[in-house]
Amino acid sequence: MHTSDQDIVVSKILTLDIGGTTIKATVLDRTGNLLQDYKKMPTPKNATPQTVLETIQNLVTGFQDYDKISVGFPGYVKKGIVYTAANLGTAAWKNVDLNKLISDTFHKPVRVVNDADMQGLGVASGVGFEIVITLGTGFGTALLLDGHLLPHIELAHHAITKKKTYDDYIGDRALKNSGKEKWNERMKRVLEMLKVVFNYDRLYIGGGNSDKLMFKLDENIKIITNKDGIKGGARLWQLDENLFMKTK
Ligand code: BGC
Repeated sequence: MHTSDQDIVVSKILTLDIGGTTIKATVLDRTGNLLQDYKKMPTPKNATPQTVLETIQNLVTGFQDYDKISVGFPGYVKKGIVYTAANLGTAAWKNVDLNKLISDTFHKPVRVVNDADMQGLGVASGVGFEIVITLGTGFGTALLLDGHLLPHIELAHHAITKKKTYDDYIGDRALKNSGKEKWNERMKRVLEMLKVVFNYDRLYIGGGNSDKLMFKLDENIKIITNKDGIKGGARLWQLDENLFMKTK
């Protein structure tokens, strides 16, 4: 079943990008234009569903009206339910129905996806095999084929060395602990590896640390901004609703 006509005329979508370090929010029109500047607040320490909800409530105080809510969440999410959230603390988030929590709080329909997947929808050209990676607290990845999201892979937690996952190797903590130069060497290695493994047509790099890359990127790699990525919040409402419906 496809989105109803009512969904298509919706004009104002509150879009939340929950990150390991900050939570960002803005209101988009249905094509992804920002109807107001995005605002951000620090993600609460030892974030629980309750404290994140409170932060969102504070963040959106004074926002213009909106009809629907899109959420990008930094963990594995399926049909609105969070299973893991490594950078927030998986224990508090395991099996949390974030979709229901947010819709019960704000009384609007909600769609929740992984944060990198939301960015992916915001920036992909829609042609060929495209990958979006985000360099922030954790390593976000989204895979898209002709603009369609492929199943979400938690590549962040795959080992790249004997002892380190991608998150350990190139996440924000690694950048802070090992310095910009070493981190850049590591990023070169990761990009080489992604190229050989995936043979993508285009790779987009977003996230707060994307501006720390100091080497020349291939022609088919593009740096994106948070503003580009957050537009994915509008695209979420053009996807088939079955993707979000719970199986009975
Ligand atoms: C999480 C991913 C998330 C990424 C960026 C990783 O630690 O496992 O789900 O997309 O961080 O926030």
